[in-house]
Amino acid sequence: MKIRTALLATACAFALSACGGDDASPTADPAATPSTAPAETSPAQTPPATTDAAPGDMAPADTAPADSADAAPQDATASAGGACEVEIEGNDAMQFNTKSITIPSSCDDFTITLVHIGTMPVAAMGHNVVITESGDMQGVNADGMAAGLEQGYVKPDDDRVIAKTELIGGGETSSVTFSTSNLEAGGDYKFFCSFPGHAALMNGSVIVE
Ligand code: CO
Repeated sequence: MKIRTALLATACAFALSACGGDDASPTADPAATPSTAPAETSPAQTPPATTDAAPGDMAPADTAPADSADAAPQDATASAGGACEVEIEGNDAMQFNTKSITIPSSCDDFTITLVHIGTMPVAAMGHNVVITESGDMQGVNADGMAAGLEQGYVKPDDDRVIAKTELIGGGETSSVTFSTSNLEAGGDYKFFCSFPGHAALMNGSVIVE
């Protein structure tokens, strides 16, 4: 008993002195963090969380947390902020990180930037963003497949194509800026990847409002 107590006391003393020295900073930090956190965290995080829940698309929710965290602000920016640009991510799992793009009719031009966050080469996991009227999606996709890789899986001079990025592989980025004059508010448009087999998963709505 005595030995135990002594050991305990020694251990405690040691721990205390050991912790005592370190304690000064960790204690100061937690104290400082909460005071900073409420100011920055709650106002900043609450709106995205709400926005995230509403559009709560199946795809972004299913993907890695990092993706959904990325998707939310982008969606929020595109729809709420009236921004005339949006960034879309494609990955090696044949997914976009969003199921809808909102184009404000107040924008004369709109820019889509596609970022391929994967590592696979274009010939194996190529991605692009093609925008058409919904009714044209299947036809454009089929003709794109026939056109082949050299054409980026989009038939050259296809009038049904409203906008398209280049077909890119992992680690690459492609942007396209297009006039919104060919888009009608409330129209029925889709964006999709025309790489063979991808459009079934990699597609979403283009909302013009
Ligand atoms: Co693709």
